[in-house]
Amino acid sequence: MSSFLSSSRSKFFINFKLHFSLFLVLIGAASAQLTPNFYSTSCPNALSTIQSAVQSAVRNESRMGASLLRLHFHDCFVNGCDGSILLDDTANFTGEKTAVPNLNSVRGFEVIDTIKSQLENVCAGVVSCADILAVAARDSVVALGGQNYTVQLGRRDSRTANISLANSNLPAPTLNLNQLISLFSNHGFNTQELVALSGAHTIGQARCTTFRSRIYNETNINSTFASSMQSNCPRTGGDNNTSPLDTTPTSFDNAYFTDLLSLKGLLHSDQQLFTGNGTGSTDSQVSSYSSNSSAFFTDFSNAMIKMGNLSVLTGTNGEVRTNCRKINGASLNLIDNKIVDLITTLLDM
Ligand code: HEM
Ligand SMILES: *[C@@H]1O[C@H](CO)[C@@H](O)[C@H](O)[C@H]1NC(C)=O
Ligand SMILES: *[C@@H]1O[C@H](CO)[C@@H](O)[C@H](O)[C@H]1NC(C)=O
Ligand SMILES: *[C@@H]1O[C@H](CO)[C@@H](O)[C@H](O)[C@H]1NC(C)=O
Ligand SMILES: *[C@@H]1O[C@H](CO)[C@@H](O)[C@H](O)[C@H]1NC(C)=O
Ligand SMILES: *[C@@H]1O[C@H](CO)[C@@H](O)[C@H](O)[C@H]1NC(C)=O
Ligand SMILES: *[C@@H]1O[C@H](CO)[C@@H](O)[C@H](O)[C@H]1NC(C)=O
Ligand SMILES: *[C@@H]1O[C@H](CO)[C@@H](O)[C@H](O)[C@H]1NC(C)=O
Ligand SMILES: *[C@@H]1O[C@H](CO)[C@@H](O)[C@H](O)[C@H]1NC(C)=O
Ligand SMILES: *[C@@H]1O[C@H](CO)[C@@H](O)[C@H](O)[C@H]1NC(C)=O
Ligand SMILES: *[C@@H]1O[C@H](CO)[C@@H](O)[C@H](O)[C@H]1NC(C)=O
Repeated sequence: MSSFLSSSRSKFFINFKLHFSLFLVLIGAASAQLTPNFYSTSCPNALSTIQSAVQSAVRNESRMGASLLRLHFHDCFVNGCDGSILLDDTANFTGEKTAVPNLNSVRGFEVIDTIKSQLENVCAGVVSCADILAVAARDSVVALGGQNYTVQLGRRDSRTANISLANSNLPAPTLNLNQLISLFSNHGFNTQELVALSGAHTIGQARCTTFRSRIYNETNINSTFASSMQSNCPRTGGDNNTSPLDTTPTSFDNAYFTDLLSLKGLLHSDQQLFTGNGTGSTDSQVSSYSSNSSAFFTDFSNAMIKMGNLSVLTGTNGEVRTNCRKINGASLNLIDNKIVDLITTLLDM
């Protein structure tokens, strides 16, 4: 009798364990996927809130659309799309904001803060900072005239950042075509996707320091264009002076590629995509995007969706930050430390 019971009990437990682990696998599989409707019940107004905030930020300053697009890129290429670029440095924590590609360069943090506080007011602790970046990037493209695409959602935020990866994984404007191909390939992108994503430079500005050597020393540059860029970017000084990355810097169009055909790429890395003598492996793709904007829009959208998938944290990994600049509990730990200090002091007395 007791042996029968124990055998049925153990059968029950085996069954239970089997089903439970199947259950865990299913939960795990479900939570590992991003989905476009992730917030449709938990925060139905999330997307419209982000869209309105992006639209008003871009209406106030059209460059902000470019800045928000770049933030998502610089987030995703460093340890995945996990909001790590948003973390501020503290006495005990070094974030990514002072990495060379980001310092005095990335912008838009205040807009992300505004969006985050609006979302915390309507559904506290639900919408991740990494997802806000992904949606804000898309809404920026659309606000400046680009093509809409569906953003996958359900990313969670990191509790870490990595300045050395931010220094090594983000492309420098001094890179040659082979180096660009290799850096993007390290992130899983082929050469066609590199060219499509580079089309992001159809909007926004760059500082003189990033293109000075190109406009003074390079030969594969339109001389009229070079002289005109030199007027706002002297040989010495004016490092922070900005110039547009293409001839229509507030329109998300295909003019970036048309500009490359006339050797008007602003960055050395931009002009690397088109040689002008037919010898470059990406010349024909640049020509094709310059004559067919819908080909560019389609490829750009697909590459952005792929970029938004890079090493995402899902399920119970990471967290949903309440303040995009800080990991959760950071100030609580500070208070804890203070209390511990106080108790230690009291005990010492
Ligand atoms: C292909 C390699 C790339 C290189 C070498 C590169 C480099 C740069 C540099 C040097 C700037 C100017 C920064 C400054 O002066 O402060 C810039 C701006 C920008 N980049 Fe890239 N980038 C690349 C790819 C991308 C990609 C893939 C995206 C997005 C999908 C992107 C989006 C932008 C935008 C929108 C701006 C203008 C930002 C603003 O006006 O605030 N870039 N990039
Ligand atoms: C509007 O843009 C300007 C820069 O052009 C900026 O200084 C200001 O803070 C922005 N205002 C709002 C409300 O975003
Ligand atoms: C940094 O860490 C030290 C030692 O672990 C601690 O005493 C200090 O309170 C911490 N500071 C902050 C700002 O967290
Ligand atoms: C450029 O601007 C940054 C702030 O964005 C400032 O710290 C730096 O000193 C400026 N550099 C020059 C050369 O003016
Ligand atoms: C872009 O598409 C999404 C659905 O994928 C939609 O929610 C959003 O409103 C669209 N944006 C615009 C500006 O039409
Ligand atoms: C940053 O990434 C590098 C390379 O993967 C790794 O060696 C290093 O330990 C990381 N640093 C931090 C602070 O996570
Ligand atoms: C141009 O090249 C010369 C010779 O290599 C160099 O001395 C100079 O600093 C360069 N100028 C710029 C603006 O990069
Ligand atoms: C250089 O730019 C000028 C002025 O925009 C243009 O007329 C000319 O065709 C361009 N040259 C080349 C080689 O594309
Ligand atoms: C083609 O143009 C590239 C970039 O300007 C240059 O490096 C290369 O020497 C040129 N090749 C020929 C055959 O003209
Ligand atoms: C432009 O590109 C699209 C998408 O790749 C393609 O379907 C279309 O046929 C192209 N149009 C022309 C005129 O080549
Ligand atoms: C991105 O991830 C989503 C869900 O995780 C998946 O459905 C989609 O196929 C992925 N897209 C690309 C281009 O990797």
